[in-house]
Amino acid sequence: MKRLQRLRRTTALRDLCAETGFGAAQLIQPLFLDAAASQPRAIPGLLDNQTHDAQSLLRQVDADLAAGVRHFLLFPVPAEKRAANFDADFTAASIERLRAACGEHASVWVDTCLCSYSTSGHCCVFDGRGRQDLGTTLDELTGLALTYAGAGADGVSPSDMNDGRVAHLRDRLDAAGHELVSIMSYSSKFASSFYGPFRIAAQSSPRQGNRRSYQLDVRSRRDAIAASQRCADEGADLLMVKPGMSSIDLLAPISAATNKPVGAYQVSGEFASLALLAREGLGDFDAMLLESWQVFRRAGASYIVTYGARQARRLGLN
Ligand code: PBG
Repeated sequence: MKRLQRLRRTTALRDLCAETGFGAAQLIQPLFLDAAASQPRAIPGLLDNQTHDAQSLLRQVDADLAAGVRHFLLFPVPAEKRAANFDADFTAASIERLRAACGEHASVWVDTCLCSYSTSGHCCVFDGRGRQDLGTTLDELTGLALTYAGAGADGVSPSDMNDGRVAHLRDRLDAAGHELVSIMSYSSKFASSFYGPFRIAAQSSPRQGNRRSYQLDVRSRRDAIAASQRCADEGADLLMVKPGMSSIDLLAPISAATNKPVGAYQVSGEFASLALLAREGLGDFDAMLLESWQVFRRAGASYIVTYGARQARRLGLN
């Protein structure tokens, strides 16, 4: 009889034959810096993730580095919202100190988007007639990215989904001498209902309407692959699908089409769903979290952005 079970019998045999593996080196921990905060504040649904003031951010980073975290993705939240002329100066000192704390051992990425900065809560700016002003949007995004890069970020992560952003960012970064600053593009990002806890933390909910006119339609596969392909063509170094758990089918086709590393962002609503299941006694949180990461790897994710990256060592990963 054909027995496929034979090599699943013991832990040693399963480890010997595991087709994928990973460690903290493939996980990215999000962090929130709120310029208006004077103390850390819990984020509903995201367990030990908090919005930080500048001091508590650095304490968190020290603790995370000690716990084995290798990569951070910073989300800056300015103290005041504006219609345009955004200013990221409040981030510079934190990025500098974060970079210094990380040394060679860990990397610092900064999410690059307008929704936390803008009065509209949208990822673009609008002209006098309420239409998306793409030229100004790209200039504003680039302005933020130049501040982040100038402060020492290893890479910037455009999460806005506006057309042409990666080419524009690459061009301006290069012109400013930041040729070696990487771009991790949120390249296939859907207009999703799973971003709830994040939008509370980042204070980035659209005041009116939704993001369906610039983020991807969840029913579309061709458009999602084309979006990542375009980011690759425009010079993105790393690609990403988001929300990760509900875009898992896209990892393999995007890698095949682009031959670039493609990661998955386990978004706030996905992470919180595991936490809530566990809270209701309907599942073991650690086991579900680890399983979700293992499945990302099986599906072909090169890296995983997850609110649980700082748990990796506790879960037995190196
Ligand atoms: C900003 C941005 C969002 C997320 C990451 N960057 C929210 C959005 O597009 O509405 C979501 C992350 C998460 O839910 O964990 N554009």
